[in-house]
Amino acid sequence: MKKQMEQLGIILLAAGQGTRMKSALPKVLHPLGGKALFLHVLETARRLRPERVAIVIGHGAQAVREAYAGSDVRWAMQEEQLGTGHAVLCAAAAFENFAGDVVILSGDVPMIRAETLRGLIQHHREQHAAVTLLTTQFDDPKGYGRIVRDERGAMTAIVEEKDASEAQRAVREVNAGVYVAAAPFLFAALNAVKNDNRQGEYYLPDIIAIGLRQGKKIETVAVADGREVKGINSREELAFMEKHLRESINKKWMVAGVTFKDPDTTYIDESVVIGRDTVIGPNTQLCGKTVIGERCRIDGSAFLTDAAIGDEVHLRFSVVLGQCRVERGAIIGPFAHLRPGTSLGPEVHIGNFVETKEAKLGAGTKANHLTYLGDVTIGTDTNIGAGTITCNYDGFHKYKTSIGNRVQVGSDTTLVAPIALGDDVYIATASTVRHDVPAGALVFNQREEKVREGWTEQKRAKMKGSKK
Ligand code: UD1
Ligand code: MG
Repeated sequence: MKKQMEQLGIILLAAGQGTRMKSALPKVLHPLGGKALFLHVLETARRLRPERVAIVIGHGAQAVREAYAGSDVRWAMQEEQLGTGHAVLCAAAAFENFAGDVVILSGDVPMIRAETLRGLIQHHREQHAAVTLLTTQFDDPKGYGRIVRDERGAMTAIVEEKDASEAQRAVREVNAGVYVAAAPFLFAALNAVKNDNRQGEYYLPDIIAIGLRQGKKIETVAVADGREVKGINSREELAFMEKHLRESINKKWMVAGVTFKDPDTTYIDESVVIGRDTVIGPNTQLCGKTVIGERCRIDGSAFLTDAAIGDEVHLRFSVVLGQCRVERGAIIGPFAHLRPGTSLGPEVHIGNFVETKEAKLGAGTKANHLTYLGDVTIGTDTNIGAGTITCNYDGFHKYKTSIGNRVQVGSDTTLVAPIALGDDVYIATASTVRHDVPAGALVFNQREEKVREGWTEQKRAKMKGSKK
């Protein structure tokens, strides 16, 4: 059991609207690298193994709550967004009888690293400070609270941009919006914060001046690379951060042995995993829980979401894959669409203009041209001819198709589900199959084929001159 004083709490501020985003979506829900802004911060916070985590929500509270599936956080409601100081106070109930330190994080400062926070907490504890906060230097500090220091370099206050004098605005050292404070001091000080400023808000940074007046020790820790503590307040800042994040993700995979033909047009979510010696072509997006094996080739213009791709798979130019599984050595595309529930065995070939959905294909099976395979299970080494369609929907219900091993489905076949074809069935070209077919059988539709010699010439002679 930790000593009470060593306990750690987290307050994550996520109640603001984010006016400058000009969005119907609460700011902290805007995705960065495929993940909501505040979830980046929450995941980092977790790595500190805190005893308690409270998330302050308000604007779009329901949607923010739903974005996090876990049940191990306390949600604190801030009905009216009266400022960051007021927001922290809304979480006070979650920290009753809590004598430890509380780290305060902003839901819009997503790149903060756990190592930085550990350094912040360590410094705070070593110095026995009441509050310690992160600061950094920005060439363009616009929008941030400025750190005001006296002639000896001691911090005297934090002044928000809108309340700052001309001289204060020239200060390049800014408040990163990340703090650690002793809980008893924090909540007592917040009760003394007033809203007599240009924005009429209760500012969290005002606890600094309050602490100093009480003779408390207030410390700062400088962050060398300001990008880590950049806040996201506008779409422009979001795009900048997205680019920065993409670059660092791509770099990570290059270091791990993945080749990128054009890293500038390759977009990989943080959650994606890629095996070594895989080569990724331009215009590729790998999203969600996508996992790519080793020695794969992705030619380019590929959009993958939650796709599990085995080793040595070749995704040819222009493919869309969602919630599907592709095993070793398969070849997909060009121009193929694998929809949810698709599961392809080893060495399967899916060619151009083929769409699959809830389709399980066994090893070595091929569907190379112009085909729809929906709600279907197919065995191994079966060949699906060009233009084959599983007719799985009658306007009311979906029906299943099952096709055995080594089946030859002729071109332009329609399979009217529900239907089952046994192993080694042979379907003649242009058949409409409505009934189950036993193993080893041939199916064909009887249609008379008539040939009229000289017909075209006669037709043309008859029609001549009638064209308008
Ligand atoms: C804040 C700091 C500023 C600092 C900057 C760093 C204040 C007053 N200013 O400014 O000194 O340099 O962060 O990024 O704290 N929030 C609430 N409830 C509210 C208001 C805000 O939960 O009533 C949340 C927001 O959702 C956001 C965070 O607090 O996640 C910060 O709010 P924001 O409005 O972005 O503050 P900044 O103007 O960036
Ligand atoms: Mg902000």
